[in-house]
Amino acid sequence: MKGLNFAHFLCLFLFLTLVNGDGGGSEQVVRGGYYPSWAGFPLSAIDTSLYTHIYYAFVAPNNVTYALEVSNSTAVALLNFTSTLHEKNPMVKVLLSIGGAEEGPVIFSNMSSNATTRKNFILSSIEIARNYGFDGLDLDWEFPQSPTDMENYGYLLDEWRTEVQKEAQQTYRPPLLLTAATYYAAVFTDVPRKYAVASLGKNLDLINAMCYDYHGSWDLSATGAHAALFDPNSNFSTNYGLNTWIWAGIPKSKLVMGLPIYGRSWKLKDPNVHGIGAPAVAVGPGTLGVVSYGKILHINRKYNATVYYDAQTVSMYSVAGRSWIGYDDTGSLVVKIGYARGLGLRGYFFWDISYDRKSKISKVGKSYSLLSGTYVVNDGIFSPYVTMLSCLPLF
Ligand SMILES: *[C@@H]1O[C@H](CO)[C@@H](O)[C@H](O)[C@H]1NC(C)=O
Ligand SMILES: *[C@@H]1O[C@H](CO)[C@@H](O)[C@H](O)[C@H]1NC(C)=O
Ligand SMILES: *[C@@H]1O[C@H](CO)[C@@H](O)[C@H](O)[C@H]1NC(C)=O
Ligand SMILES: *[C@@H]1O[C@H](CO)[C@@H](O)[C@H](O)[C@H]1NC(C)=O
Ligand SMILES: *[C@@H]1O[C@H](CO)[C@@H](O)[C@H](O)[C@H]1NC(C)=O
Ligand SMILES: *[C@@H]1O[C@H](CO)[C@@H](O)[C@H](O)[C@H]1NC(C)=O
Ligand SMILES: *[C@@H]1O[C@H](CO)[C@@H](O)[C@H](O)[C@H]1NC(C)=O
Repeated sequence: MKGLNFAHFLCLFLFLTLVNGDGGGSEQVVRGGYYPSWAGFPLSAIDTSLYTHIYYAFVAPNNVTYALEVSNSTAVALLNFTSTLHEKNPMVKVLLSIGGAEEGPVIFSNMSSNATTRKNFILSSIEIARNYGFDGLDLDWEFPQSPTDMENYGYLLDEWRTEVQKEAQQTYRPPLLLTAATYYAAVFTDVPRKYAVASLGKNLDLINAMCYDYHGSWDLSATGAHAALFDPNSNFSTNYGLNTWIWAGIPKSKLVMGLPIYGRSWKLKDPNVHGIGAPAVAVGPGTLGVVSYGKILHINRKYNATVYYDAQTVSMYSVAGRSWIGYDDTGSLVVKIGYARGLGLRGYFFWDISYDRKSKISKVGKSYSLLSGTYVVNDGIFSPYVTMLSCLPLF
């Protein structure tokens, strides 16, 4: 029954896609990718034809003045980044991303709580973006912790947008792009709080919703689809998160769906009980259970893993003995991209480019090839899924 519903769903969004036509709106489709500066991934290996927006991750404000700060070695890397990518593809937008998970939330909470430090931050960010040849700035505050933080986030964006427009007028240049990487949903439930959606919708060019990390090493009791498109049992799903943004009034033309090019692993309690939500006892392969897509393919081959497609969550998982990895492959990504298209979103972005050494996932828009391996279908609907894959137009 569930399988049948899912097949109907696929048909529905295929239909929507056809009705919308290729390209649909007047605005350029976004295919973003974050570049982690610490990963040692050579700039020369980035296939810039696969992305419209590439983000340099990360820089941070000074913790006393809250001005954006760039060390001399970072300065060299930033110049190299913008010049190399622009030279390879003058059409690609190159953005400077500020913050990240490692940076933590406190520095942004402090900076945004005071008009003086907000101004230091804003003016320095614009100056650095221009001096180093960026097309835009991206705020990656993970995450505002309180309703007060959310309110200050809104003020920060109001003032940032004002200064960005002012600078553009004064210099006769196109305004810098202003984007943010956000929680998958517009609302948090632990400490109840929600983004200042009116400010985000008005001031940002793009909202990059991080539609992943729903499950992970912080809960070792059970396996989970960390980037589930649907979850009948909880609100930890991409479908729920994206809809909270839409219900709150974010223009769909600014909403971008995050896609992970990595999986999350567990060690099963019993190798014979291996579904999504199966009892687990520890993390599996990878650092804290995080495994890049390239490494997952390698592990699957090396240990002759069995690869399953779970239609309910639109995700893959592979099982080898007690090792369990949940992830997206090119096939589940195509279904998600079709879903985003059906919903009318602006596009998608990947975290991160370095996990996709051979650009296999990033080429998903061009190639619907499936993984080699043993495929098992949970509830008998893999073949409609494959059929749909071969005819799903992407954006
Ligand atoms: C600039 O990037 C290129 C391409 O990745 C690399 O070969 C070169 O070493 C970099 N230069 C500097 C100064 O970092
Ligand atoms: C501020 O940054 C400096 C230099 O990175 C560091 O040594 C210091 O611990 C930081 N202070 C706080 C409060 O984070
Ligand atoms: C950074 O570069 C500037 C200008 O080239 C120079 O004056 C300064 O001494 C350098 N700082 C360090 C720590 O190397
Ligand atoms: C944030 O502000 C508090 C209170 O003024 C201070 O103790 C702390 O060091 C600050 N931390 C950062 C990272 O700015
Ligand atoms: C805001 O920050 C400035 C500069 O750090 C400081 O002088 C001022 O006292 C702060 N204002 C408030 C209300 O904390
Ligand atoms: C999911 O969110 C809705 C509101 O958006 C809420 O009514 C419902 O209780 C939530 N479900 C769970 C399982 O938290
Ligand atoms: C790999 O697994 C499949 C079934 O999952 C089995 O038929 C095959 O013999 C295995 N191959 C090796 C080399 O272990």
